Amino acid sequence: MAAANAGAMVRFVAAFLAAVLVMMVPCAPRAAAAAVGVNWGTVSAHRMPAPVVVELMRANRIGRVKLFDADQAALRALMGSGLQVMVGITNEMLQGIAASPAAADAWVARNVSRYVGPGGADIRYIAVGNEPFLTSYQGQFQSYVLPAMTNIQQSLVKANLARYIKLVVPCNADAYQSASVPSQGVFRPDLIQIITQLAAFLSSSGAPFVVNIYPFLSLYQSSDFPQDYAFFDGSSHPVVDGPNVYYNAFDGNFDTLVSALSKIGYGQLPIAIGEVGWPTEGAPSANLTAARAFTQGLISHVLSNKGTPLRPGVPPMDVYLFSLLDEEQKSTLPGNFERHWGVFSFDGQAKYPLNLGLGSPVLKNAKDVPYLPPRWCVANPGRDLNNVENHLKLACTMADCTTLYYGGSCNAIGEKGNISYAFNSYYQLRKQDAQSCDFDGLGMITYLDPSIGDCRFLVGIDDSRTSTIYSSGDCSRRRFGLWILAFLVIGFLQIGVYL
Ligand SMILES: *[C@@H]1O[C@H](CO)[C@@H](O)[C@H](O)[C@H]1NC(C)=O
Ligand SMILES: *[C@@H]1O[C@H](CO)[C@@H](O)[C@H](O)[C@H]1NC(C)=O
Ligand SMILES: *[C@@H]1O[C@H](CO)[C@@H](O)[C@H](O)[C@H]1NC(C)=O
Repeated sequence: MAAANAGAMVRFVAAFLAAVLVMMVPCAPRAAAAAVGVNWGTVSAHRMPAPVVVELMRANRIGRVKLFDADQAALRALMGSGLQVMVGITNEMLQGIAASPAAADAWVARNVSRYVGPGGADIRYIAVGNEPFLTSYQGQFQSYVLPAMTNIQQSLVKANLARYIKLVVPCNADAYQSASVPSQGVFRPDLIQIITQLAAFLSSSGAPFVVNIYPFLSLYQSSDFPQDYAFFDGSSHPVVDGPNVYYNAFDGNFDTLVSALSKIGYGQLPIAIGEVGWPTEGAPSANLTAARAFTQGLISHVLSNKGTPLRPGVPPMDVYLFSLLDEEQKSTLPGNFERHWGVFSFDGQAKYPLNLGLGSPVLKNAKDVPYLPPRWCVANPGRDLNNVENHLKLACTMADCTTLYYGGSCNAIGEKGNISYAFNSYYQLRKQDAQSCDFDGLGMITYLDPSIGDCRFLVGIDDSRTSTIYSSGDCSRRRFGLWILAFLVIGFLQIGVYL
């Protein structure tokens, strides 16, 4: 009797403690230690539902994500996810926000305030413009950046968010290029005044200078760029800069920025990498082997905390890979590779093994991707294809055919293969509308996957259904698991009492 009473007591206390413990388990801060994040761009006709993308990042324990705008679906899906978020103000919006505190208030209210708070999106940064100083913009956005920052900052103060959310400006590296050695780094003369003000702003708010670094582009644009200098395995062409020796372009570029910042009096400003990555096709040096070598080398380098010659032991604050997913509607003006920057394909399939330093040597693929039915459009083998030119032109203007070109995964599939590929690309873009496979009778729908070797004939994504997947459900699942654990513990205690 006494033993039973004591057992009941123990059970009660244990259950109470377990309940308290379960309530105390926080759901969000898991990501706090991760320094590697991703850019989530959405210039694609085959967009996975935002909750599927968020789940993909969570499954791979990616703790930080950078958006190029304030996409409503993305921010909704990020609520309760635990991911730290950088939202973006597009360059086109800078002028209006710079001119009007009310416009800034509206932007913050609409695109930040309503997503944050308990169970909300963990927005940490707002990117004011995206590479607004790019030379090719010819100064179009330059003068709006600081006034827009000032207005947004005031809006954040009013919304009581200024202590938590910081403003940054992702800069392209051509803001300071053309130095022969890193110590010679200076900002472009037309930018010195603006960047000095920007650095002062960042310094006073404790925000990092955000820069995008692309050794791939250096290699792609210059035939005498030493190939191994783009990677992280040491280089037979190191850059010697006084006492400092540089073995990779990333460090050289980083320290060029450090030098440029020093010259305007902000040599100590923390630096984050807004974009860095390597495309997997669309140019000879854009391939899976190179992309894997670069990205893995970069991550290992950053996580080793080695830093650079000018900042030994101080790696960049955060590094956002470019990019999470392929975006097949991006402009090919820079080159065909522009649509193939993803670590994952458009549908969330890992392109190569990658260890993000978070415990897994490989990446997990996206789950529950809502594909269209498994069917494809190909060239009708029974038809003479002599008059196909105009159809091809239309298909490849609207849809993506970049994989057909030199350096692409479908470059060697023959003329008929080319035609089929283009037809299918267009058919999937049009969400498998039967008429879009007509091509004056030259096209034909098939249920047999026409993919050849590495050349994948895609099946599009059905984005017509509104998704019912809840990305934040994970937290309640975890709580449920903990309840079960608590009951097991109670069970053991009970056995202990009766022994
Ligand atoms: C919020 O952000 C979206 C996406 O970037 C933009 O289109 C919209 O104009 C913004 N809303 C306001 C009120 O500024
Ligand atoms: C992949 O790119 C690297 C880096 O430019 C190059 O050395 C290599 O030859 C390429 N591999 C193939 C198979 O094209
Ligand atoms: C297929 O198309 C690509 C891109 O236009 C071209 O480079 C390639 O030579 C074509 N193949 C054949 C066999 O026509």
